[in-house]
Amino acid sequence: MKLRLGIKIGLTYLLIIFTAIAAFGYFALQDIEQSLIQERKNVLLSYANIIAERAAPYLREQNNAYLNYLAEDFGESIGHRILIFNSASTILGDSSGLFRGQELIISVVADALQGESIAQTNHYPDYGSLLYLAVPVASGKQIVGAVFISADINDVIERLDQTRNRLLATAIGSGILALLISLLLARIITVPIRNLTQAAKRMAAGDYGHQVRVKNHDELGILADSFNEMSEKVKQEDIIRRQFIANASHELKSPVAALKVLVESLLIKYPESKEEAQEFLRDIDGQLDRMSRLVNDLLLLSKIERNKASFKLETVHISQLLAEVKESLRPLAAYKNIEIIIEAQEQLTWPADRDMLYRSVYNLADNAIKYSPENKEVRITSTVDQEKLMISVIDQGVGITPEHQEKIFSRFYRIDKARERTKGGTGLGLPIVQEIINLHQGTVSVTSVPGQGTEFQIVLPALRQTK
Ligand SMILES: Nc1ncnc2c1ncn2[C@@H]1O[C@H](COP(=O)(O)OP(=O)(O)OP(=O)(O)O)[C@@H](O)[C@H]1O
Ligand SMILES: [Mg+2]
Repeated sequence: MKLRLGIKIGLTYLLIIFTAIAAFGYFALQDIEQSLIQERKNVLLSYANIIAERAAPYLREQNNAYLNYLAEDFGESIGHRILIFNSASTILGDSSGLFRGQELIISVVADALQGESIAQTNHYPDYGSLLYLAVPVASGKQIVGAVFISADINDVIERLDQTRNRLLATAIGSGILALLISLLLARIITVPIRNLTQAAKRMAAGDYGHQVRVKNHDELGILADSFNEMSEKVKQEDIIRRQFIANASHELKSPVAALKVLVESLLIKYPESKEEAQEFLRDIDGQLDRMSRLVNDLLLLSKIERNKASFKLETVHISQLLAEVKESLRPLAAYKNIEIIIEAQEQLTWPADRDMLYRSVYNLADNAIKYSPENKEVRITSTVDQEKLMISVIDQGVGITPEHQEKIFSRFYRIDKARERTKGGTGLGLPIVQEIINLHQGTVSVTSVPGQGTEFQIVLPALRQTK
């Protein structure tokens, strides 16, 4: 069964209120009943004792008119039936005069003749509730009779009934009030929830960045704030994703267009000489190279993003890794007569994903050579400080102005698009470095003096190898 929140809260309140009032009512009623009847008993007891005192001197006589008069007189003034017994359970005085001279066995009277003052409540279908009370009559140390009073206590019972009804009315009244209040309360709670639900639905339908307006300063307000924050993030992510797709297609477009032009001109006019044909093929090869590099970089980026699980830590010989980077960049460096200098402790090892770390250092060193003039130096150093590995790639190249420094880690970002495209750059080198170092929970940063040189620094924490 699907109950709405308001009804649920209302029913819960109702249950609580009813249980509380029922428990309270039960004990209160019992208490009132006890005290009312006790009060009545005390009053009657003192009357009975007065009668007993007066009757005592006459009880040994078998037939004394005074006893009957005593019963009648008191009976009239307190409005109850009074019987005066002798020790043989014979009635010597009756306020109604009916049973005078008869023998009658009443249990409370039998107890009184044993010396006990006793009171008892009895219920009869015809008369309702009656209080029976008997006290012994003593003469010296001897019990010579008993005084019995039978009192109608239906007025007490009636008062109790009234109280019970009033309690019931209070319970019903407050129950209805509670129901109304909780419906109102539920509205206050459910309105922001409904707003949030609607916002979540809009977001699911693609309306990223949608913000909910919830004025609460409670948990719901916090939830709404978190929702808005998430919504904004999703929107930003979506923008970045769209931009990325647009950029990637744009980057792919130019080599494709160049290839099309090259192939079309070959179709229109077949090259006359072998040299001319080779030139065409070299151009085509260059464009294909560019495309394949771009596609490879894109694939690598998406692999890092998608499959973070394939990232595995191993013990990496740092100096060996740096030497390998130097070796594979040797032709490029030699072409510009740039010297690569490595400064690393021979035995240093560090937990990292070897292929990925190699790729990062390679990209940085490749940049250092690419963006340096001829006859310069590129220095690659590694040090350990405070449980962290630092790898720096330092060049004496063109440098990067501060406004570009924060942007070069964005995908496809190149400072001088025209110039760098001729060098074959796609602007994915540094983003790849960043992704890789993020996976290692490290940081990569840049410091540069334009015209003098640049330093890229990777800082890696000592991650614990699992397995
Ligand atoms: N050491 C450096 N000195 C000067 N500028 C640099 C240096 N490293 C990077 N840059 C600038 O930052 C830009 C982004 O570098 P990134 O490595 O991401 O792309 P790329 O080198 O142009 O292309 P790719 O690395 O994909 O071949 C470069 O285009 C260049 O302008
Ligand atoms: Mg690069």
